[in-house]
Amino acid sequence: MCGIVGAVAQRDVVPILLEGLKRLEYRGYDSAGVAVLGGAADGGARSTLCRLRSTGRVAELEKLSRAEALAGRIGIAHTRWATHGVPSEKNAHPHVSGGVSVVHNGIIENHDELRARLRAKGYQFASDTDTEVIAHLIHSNLHSGTSLFDAVRASTAQLVGAYAIAVVSDGEPSRFVAARHGAPLLLGLGEGENFAASDASALVQVTSRMIYLEDGDCAEVALGSVRIIDAKGAAVERPVHASQLSAAAVELGPYRHYMEKEIHEQPMAVANTLEMVSGAQSVSAQLFGAEAERILGEVDSVLILACGTSYHAGMVARYWIEGVAGIPCNVEIASEYRYRASVPNPKALVVTVSQSGETADTLAALQHAKQLGQRYSLCICNVPESALLRASELRFLTRAGPEIGVASTKAFTTQLAVLVLLTMTLAKVRGRLSREREGELLLSLRHLPTALQNVLHIEPQVKMWAEKFAQHQHALFLGRGIHYPIAMEGALKLKEISYIHAEAYAAGELKHGPLALVDKHMPVVAIAPKDALFEKLKSNLQEVRARGGELHVFADQDTRMTGGDGIQVIRMPDHAGLLSPILHTIPLQLLAYHAALDRGNDVDKPRNLAKSVTVE
Ligand code: M6R
Repeated sequence: MCGIVGAVAQRDVVPILLEGLKRLEYRGYDSAGVAVLGGAADGGARSTLCRLRSTGRVAELEKLSRAEALAGRIGIAHTRWATHGVPSEKNAHPHVSGGVSVVHNGIIENHDELRARLRAKGYQFASDTDTEVIAHLIHSNLHSGTSLFDAVRASTAQLVGAYAIAVVSDGEPSRFVAARHGAPLLLGLGEGENFAASDASALVQVTSRMIYLEDGDCAEVALGSVRIIDAKGAAVERPVHASQLSAAAVELGPYRHYMEKEIHEQPMAVANTLEMVSGAQSVSAQLFGAEAERILGEVDSVLILACGTSYHAGMVARYWIEGVAGIPCNVEIASEYRYRASVPNPKALVVTVSQSGETADTLAALQHAKQLGQRYSLCICNVPESALLRASELRFLTRAGPEIGVASTKAFTTQLAVLVLLTMTLAKVRGRLSREREGELLLSLRHLPTALQNVLHIEPQVKMWAEKFAQHQHALFLGRGIHYPIAMEGALKLKEISYIHAEAYAAGELKHGPLALVDKHMPVVAIAPKDALFEKLKSNLQEVRARGGELHVFADQDTRMTGGDGIQVIRMPDHAGLLSPILHTIPLQLLAYHAALDRGNDVDKPRNLAKSVTVE
């Protein structure tokens, strides 16, 4: 989704801004732009506002700025993912009003009303965006004697909706202003130079010292200082964090795509996430925070809120939590829950699951739950200091490392690993986990990285299947029980990057409708672990075969299933019992990846999608 970078320095900031935008490319965007106070290659010492924008990749913008010899010592830059107005140069940020220039992430809900007021004052609009309203509003509040900082504060007070903004003005060439409400924004502290960005990865090349702005904060960023005023107008000091993010962690290395890298990083990502229990004989509630022992003892049920792949992790967890810990567990799509008249249970543990920790719907769902009086919250998330983590009482940071590919892979398997720990802890607190069972499960978790590595070895076989899938327009994914959400995740992966229409069904549901779709042109993927439902699943597969459907079965080694007429089988190396859904995810990720490659798609940046969905 949209990305922001801002910089003020005693050197040319254009390379810093462009490098920052490149590091934000993974979030998904359709156009990019930069504005500096400077101009031509004079070292940027002048204070003329110069703006360049282009559709397409940041590389285009870079070419343009080289051709124009753009340089400046203060500037802002943006990658845009269209919401209001089509992707085009005129809609790309920064937007300007006189000498004021603004970049914005989020959505301004009262933009129509503000636009009408500004038009009445004589402002003319050059774009279809909600952001241009902010530029004119700040300009209209910039009376003589008013600082940019005060004009921004007066303007943000009139905005309804979500925003993270960075603003420069030619009237104040040595400082820029950054403000946020409902969309992430952080400051980066350098030596005699300072920065702002929507994501720490944009600044990894210039600093590791970060300040995460809180909702309602407005910051003035100058060469040697930053000043922050909070939502109530009080001057505040926010803590400085040392970011652990290294430049190497966000580089491709020997891989062709981030998705390929991230699929292959899963053994290590899971091992890192489980490090705290790697030598332990037992699980402890402390894993989830200092108050976890008390809270997990008080809760009587679990409500999981999430979107997309993270929602699928929640669906898997429901089988674990109800089956092992024996307490009721509901899982809801965050965007549905936040607008549904639900019956709150103040004793439920509200668990949000999110890779980014910034997904607008999940964040709003958590806020909604709190407003309903649900006071116990736990967040499982991959991004330190993200909004969701900060808004939650209990937290578990997955240690998957930065996930850049839009298709979520290692975030999912690490979320599942943590959800197993949560299940064990809930069961233990309730006296439903014997020492023996606890030991067995910890042993399986310790073996999990090796088991994942073994599954990766089946990649050549999956690649051969993918070649055939790439030629189809549709596919069905079937699973039963705890592997039904894994089938859903497989279908989501395939459609999001290969653009093949894919649906997942609980295999027992086939005969209630979708069987009508099955013929020899419909490839059907089945997830067939050796569990209690295996024989039932085999009957469902017969129903498919009887209609000519081509079956592609991922079966556990001990099922002894073999291929035959219209049935192809890939045997999974390990049988993992309770952890089986984690292993069965891998071949589905590989299938989607290779099918997308065969179709010539941009695997890491699929069309229309963004990595962090920070708007509703
Ligand atoms: O950052 P989150 O986990 O909250 O993101 C939720 C979804 O947007 C995300 O999982 C999405 O479905 C992925 N692109 C799927 O691969």
